[in-house]
Amino acid sequence: MLYQFLRPLLFQLNPESAHRLSLAAIDQLGWWGLLPGAVIDCQPRTVMGLTFPNPVGLAAGLDKNGEHLDALALLGFGFIEIGTVTPRPQPGNPLPRLFRVPEAHAIINRLGFNNHGVNQLIENVTQSSYQGILGINIGKNFDTPLDKAAEDYLLCLQKVYRYASYVTINISSPNTKNLRELQSADALDHLLSRLKSSQQELSQIHGKYVPIAVKIAPDLDTTQIESIAALLLKHRIDAVIATNTTISRESIANLPIAQETGGLSGAPLRQRSTTIVQQLHGFLQNAIPIVGVGGIMSVDDATEKLNAGASLIQLYTGLIYHGPGLAGTIARALCTGQASQKTESA
Ligand SMILES: Cc1cc2nc3c(=O)[nH]c(=O)nc-3n(C[C@H](O)[C@H](O)[C@H](O)COP(=O)(O)O)c2cc1C
Repeated sequence: MLYQFLRPLLFQLNPESAHRLSLAAIDQLGWWGLLPGAVIDCQPRTVMGLTFPNPVGLAAGLDKNGEHLDALALLGFGFIEIGTVTPRPQPGNPLPRLFRVPEAHAIINRLGFNNHGVNQLIENVTQSSYQGILGINIGKNFDTPLDKAAEDYLLCLQKVYRYASYVTINISSPNTKNLRELQSADALDHLLSRLKSSQQELSQIHGKYVPIAVKIAPDLDTTQIESIAALLLKHRIDAVIATNTTISRESIANLPIAQETGGLSGAPLRQRSTTIVQQLHGFLQNAIPIVGVGGIMSVDDATEKLNAGASLIQLYTGLIYHGPGLAGTIARALCTGQASQKTESA
């Protein structure tokens, strides 16, 4: 409710300043005990062998360095994904690189994996008191050649393994040159095979199995989705996250801001990402759980993703347009409604 009044003020600021200010405010409110709290009455669901207190997660990219875990945990999320983190710190793309599209309840970003590097992220995680399910989303540095990309993912996997509940392999950001080529059959086969053997070694070393999720783009045709699904099955990947942002501008073509390059998120992405979830569900037949993300702005949007075959959902842009209370609102509605009947997908 309060956010309806705050939003016009925040939207006066440039989007990156508004982002920093909002997170600082959430940290303060959390510190003063003024956030709603973590506990939502819900039937837990087991996905990837992990028990999720509720199915609504924070999508990657909002807390890239894991600096706000304690406060974010008080917004009602069932799980939190931080990152994308790369082996070395990097500044990301030049400003401006983040744009609101208020007419469409959308965002365009070309941040380019701005982050403080994997060592700093681990430091932040160890200093937080967050005990919930933590996804750590990993990527490659912008200047690592594509044929050496696997080394970056392996290094990050090895470093974050001890601290993560699950690790997400981000091969779908549109803002790191050629990154999405890692979704092509040969490159993906190679990457997944190396990640899987590293996961096996790490599970011996640490005495715990940390699931791996692969995050894919919405800009894939059915043949590509089928090929990715086959590789996820072949390598026994633990989950797939669908989807990242889109490079398509079809749904906002009439707006001048559509010319900005980058990934489009929010309402215009919703339908496309739901279609991808549906297609994956058809190809995977419940063998691998799906995390549905893209354009979830309401309880109905979340239900749409779950009905399409997702076991869990995540949000980001919805929080910008509807406020930080959105996660709790959706989680509470799903948990008291029909969607809570669905407990385990795979
Ligand atoms: C500003 C911004 C930054 C993002 N950064 C990342 C990122 O670092 N890694 C990632 O996997 N996804 C990132 N995403 C994509 C989101 O995690 C999510 O997949 C996408 O925005 C679709 O969900 P939404 O419509 O609820 O925002 C980012 C999205 C936005 C808006």
